Amino acid sequence: MLDWQPISQLKIAIDGPSGSGKGTIAKRLGEELGLPVLDTGLLYRFVGWRASREHVLLSDEPAVIAALPGLMSDMQWCVDGIHYEGQLCTSELRSEEVGAMASQVASLPAVRSALLDVQRNVASQGAIMDGRDIGTVVLPDAQAKFFLTASVRERARRRWAQLSNKDKMDVRDKDSMAQVQFDLEQRDKRDAERSCAPLLAADDALVVDSTVLNVDQVVDRLLAILHRRQLIRPT
Ligand code: DC
Repeated sequence: MLDWQPISQLKIAIDGPSGSGKGTIAKRLGEELGLPVLDTGLLYRFVGWRASREHVLLSDEPAVIAALPGLMSDMQWCVDGIHYEGQLCTSELRSEEVGAMASQVASLPAVRSALLDVQRNVASQGAIMDGRDIGTVVLPDAQAKFFLTASVRERARRRWAQLSNKDKMDVRDKDSMAQVQFDLEQRDKRDAERSCAPLLAADDALVVDSTVLNVDQVVDRLLAILHRRQLIRPT
């Protein structure tokens, strides 16, 4: 039995830069509220990954758009991640290499608009959706919008800790940490400076800086705000 009951068709938008904790916070909120959680970054990662496997030049907008229906044809986007040809391929999509591919295709306006309906449809019955432009473009009608952020150093540290775990990187390797921070800054710059749907807090989004907060503290803060706005109630 859940502790909280959300209003019908509640849509929560969570945006923020890489390493701001969007994914973790969205997942935890989803567990608390019993709402589906949709990571839109995975969608861009999938398109970048598939396009690259098909040798489509990621900067060639007409070529990516022409290939898009074929790239997406055997794809299913569910709450547990992205399935391709019947197999869950989420872990393959999470690499830094695929993240860079995603950032490239995500800067193409035609790709963004082609993916708009896909995103709106999956959220139509209520969801927590995380990305870069959810509050501003994808779900401007979301009843709650949060923009998560943290210092670049802290975000790089979190990303590095994640990678150290996954790839068994040497945790004493200071160069690898500097490299992660550099890559993160490059990706943030591209995401924030693109002309179409740049990374930006919506005017009505609440900005939460998690540099010195842990996951529980952020989740508690967001639940308190949702409760105060009468978007959720205790069961
Ligand atoms: O959140 P992520 O690292 O999985 O996102 C991968 C890339 O996709 C990131 O560089 C920004 C882009 N992206 C986007 O432009 N818009 C979204 N709604 C989600 C991700």
